Amino acid sequence: MKSGLEDVVAAETVLSDVDGERGQLIVRGVSLDELRTRRFEDVVAMLFSGFFDDVPDGDGLAAALGKARQRVFAEVAAVDAGLLRLSPVEGMRALMARLPDGDDLDTALDLLAAPAVFAPALIRRQRGGQAMAPDPKLSHAADVLRMLRGEAARPVEAQALNTYFVTVVDHGLNASTFAGRVVASTQAGLTSAVVAALSALKGPLHGGAPGPVLDMLDAVGRPENAPAWIEATLDRGERLMGFGHRVYRVRDPRADALKAAVAAMTAEGAIEPGRLRLAEAVETAALAALKRRKPDRPLETNVEFYTALLLEALGFPREAFTAVFSMGRTAGWIAHAREQGLGGRLIRPQSLYVGPRPQQAA
Ligand code: COA
Repeated sequence: MKSGLEDVVAAETVLSDVDGERGQLIVRGVSLDELRTRRFEDVVAMLFSGFFDDVPDGDGLAAALGKARQRVFAEVAAVDAGLLRLSPVEGMRALMARLPDGDDLDTALDLLAAPAVFAPALIRRQRGGQAMAPDPKLSHAADVLRMLRGEAARPVEAQALNTYFVTVVDHGLNASTFAGRVVASTQAGLTSAVVAALSALKGPLHGGAPGPVLDMLDAVGRPENAPAWIEATLDRGERLMGFGHRVYRVRDPRADALKAAVAAMTAEGAIEPGRLRLAEAVETAALAALKRRKPDRPLETNVEFYTALLLEALGFPREAFTAVFSMGRTAGWIAHAREQGLGGRLIRPQSLYVGPRPQQAA
């Protein structure tokens, strides 16, 4: 029995492949190097292809997704004081759970539009403002930033968010995707599968790490403090957020894709260079300490580390980072749910009973 199911193959997929030894990610035959340059809408069309009737091309999908953003915006009227007391990801999950279940492309597009519309609306309402209605003509990434800020984003910023979305769009049988596939294997419907996946994403060992990465940078404060702070944290037995991965035994290739986007934003003045220098000092100190303390267990930088810098620079509050992750990953969850629902069987593993047995009669 493997308590974390590592190395257990639980699904066949045409969607993505994570090579943990070589540090390579492929999504539908496209390598991350190529993927990160593509438009989110084109990548979604590629992921959905074959899993729904009449999947449009990227331009058609962009138009349909714009309409879906408008459709789901009507749900924002249901936001009440109770919902506003929740974190953005919890409020968003509650709103998403109100969407009807279904297996068609419209249901899929509504679910994909939902985090993009609900998270900015909740953030603005929590700050005492009004939710901004979507602009269906904008790209998904540009519209998310406009709905968040109330004004158009700079092209370099929309490009950075697009890079983030396509970089995290799918990643093998991670915990949230597996949760979604389990639900889809019961034929429950796409909304049920996506809400289950989102619930799994929320934990700090999965998609909830980038907020704590920023807490770490704030606590370190200055580059020269990094080594001592890292040592003290590890001495207390705590984990360093943004490092380590279940599958990668080398550096997570998504970390470099996002670091490049962060560097592009820094070059255009959208990120203060000191912030990047602090992050690099923390990364260097963390990698050195982890290597020294765990020589047999490669622990490298993961996707969440530079995600934190990127989303901070784009103006998302750190408590909303997991919600932003789900804006990209929902496309992968939907494709996996359809793949499981169309071709897979009910997922029902066994457990090993280790509790007491009834007393045998003498
Ligand atoms: N900081 C410090 N130590 C770490 C660590 C980290 N980020 N990640 C793993 N380790 C240590 C563990 O404490 C464990 O040590 P032990 O054998 O002395 O108990 C050893 O490395 C193996 O860890 P394990 O829990 O078996 O690894 P895993 O495959 O289950 O964990 C993660 C993968 C991602 C959950 C883990 O690396 C982690 O918690 N990272 C921080 C959270 C994070 O960044 N999550 C985002 C993932 S994309």
